[in-house]
Amino acid sequence: MTTTLITGGTVVSATGRGLADVLVDGEKIAAVLEPGSQLLGSDLTRAVDTVIDATGKYVIPGGVDAHTHMEMPFGGTFASDTFETGTRAAAWGGTTSIVDFVVQYPDQNILDQHQLWQEKAAGACAIDYGFHQILSDVQSSSLTAMDELVAEGVTSFKLFTAYKGVFLSDDGQIFRAFQKGAENGAMMMMHAENGSIIDVLQQQALEAGHTSPEWHGLTRPWQTEEEATHRVISIADLTGAPLYVVHVSAKQAVEQIAAARDRGMNVFGETCPQYLYLSLEEHLAAKSAEWGDFEGAKYVCSTPIRSREHGHQDAMWQSLRTNDIQMVSTDHCPFCMKEQKELGRDSFAKIPNGMGSVENRMDLMYQGVVDGRITLERWVEITSTTPARMFGMYGRKGVIQPGADADIVVYDPKGHTSIGVGGAHHMNLDYSAWEGFEIDGHVDVVLSRGSVVVDESGYVGRAGHGRYIKRGLSQYLS
Ligand code: URP
Ligand code: ZN
Ligand code: ZN
Repeated sequence: MTTTLITGGTVVSATGRGLADVLVDGEKIAAVLEPGSQLLGSDLTRAVDTVIDATGKYVIPGGVDAHTHMEMPFGGTFASDTFETGTRAAAWGGTTSIVDFVVQYPDQNILDQHQLWQEKAAGACAIDYGFHQILSDVQSSSLTAMDELVAEGVTSFKLFTAYKGVFLSDDGQIFRAFQKGAENGAMMMMHAENGSIIDVLQQQALEAGHTSPEWHGLTRPWQTEEEATHRVISIADLTGAPLYVVHVSAKQAVEQIAAARDRGMNVFGETCPQYLYLSLEEHLAAKSAEWGDFEGAKYVCSTPIRSREHGHQDAMWQSLRTNDIQMVSTDHCPFCMKEQKELGRDSFAKIPNGMGSVENRMDLMYQGVVDGRITLERWVEITSTTPARMFGMYGRKGVIQPGADADIVVYDPKGHTSIGVGGAHHMNLDYSAWEGFEIDGHVDVVLSRGSVVVDESGYVGRAGHGRYIKRGLSQYLS
């Protein structure tokens, strides 16, 4: 077994920071030591196989991205990152675990789908991975199968109040699934938008001749997110199931979540970098020489990136500070402009929904530290520690302590990262939604279960290194 000592760095956790050396033995963290510690009277640096000098740098637990869609069949095509390319890009960006979504379309069997996703990921992943399960129609057999999946480590289920005819479940179906969640302890995840109203607004916009991407945002107003968020909170309240609202983008949806939390409910929310940094005006409505007014297709995702007018972006940052929103995932669901986003050239409603950011999340959120939006400790908490706790991985993931998996990032606050295709990103994507973003920091070294997967020479990991994470129930419930 290989031993590694990471010396001289500032170890940052969700609760504090301090100078320490980190000793890695095989796949696990063996000790967090005072800098320059001796072992049996001799210098530890001589006793180990490898020394990583982290002087002047931060040593943090590897990022946990709890919302990705590798090679997801969606919008008439497939998300362009495979488990192999997507997890490699994640590693480049300091993320060492993902939780991806197994897809169920109506009439499909969720256990068969789970098996299919296990086969897709096995042997392909550069980092560790777990699964949530999507429920589209809630068959009685699915309710029984939910218990089996929980025992297999799939302890969270996502349902939708949008995408009619694709994923949308009606309130009764959601209610039944939540009753099961209340019984077996699974986290119920909701995509909260009022799909019926959105369908009418889309139809009316198209009839009026509005086809450009900007209308994706204009036909999904914040009220549709607020209403659906309120509704699913009521269903959680009625059933007693824990609720996690995914990709929250509207200030008013946060208010619903905050009010439920103030009442003592186990209601949680995630946001994504796109809702913190991007806007309808500057991005969805953008024009370019290459794409004209189709430029905005790069930013089509749901919930949509929102108008600056109502201050949604500042409100989302604020919610991260106040813990009304607990964590940041990417909702990584990339589609290339050529041949994929292009499917919606004539109608914004046909643009495949999703953006790619799995490589950029740690950097984008670190910039929030530099800009004074969040503290260094909160950065670690919302990108690693809380996702691990929220989804039953804490102790192995999300923390630097003896016994934890040695998923570690050495982050250089004096380094610099230029994001985008110009900065040569590693996602299988022909554009970057983050083109031109400059980050005052850099992912220097990444370890996944004790193996260096990224260092100064670049990616040195391998497909198949990543293992399935059999998750427990959420460790975040009150
Ligand atoms: O636009 C998005 N979010 N695409 C991925 C599917 C989902 O709803 O999370
Ligand atoms: Zn969703
Ligand atoms: Zn998603």
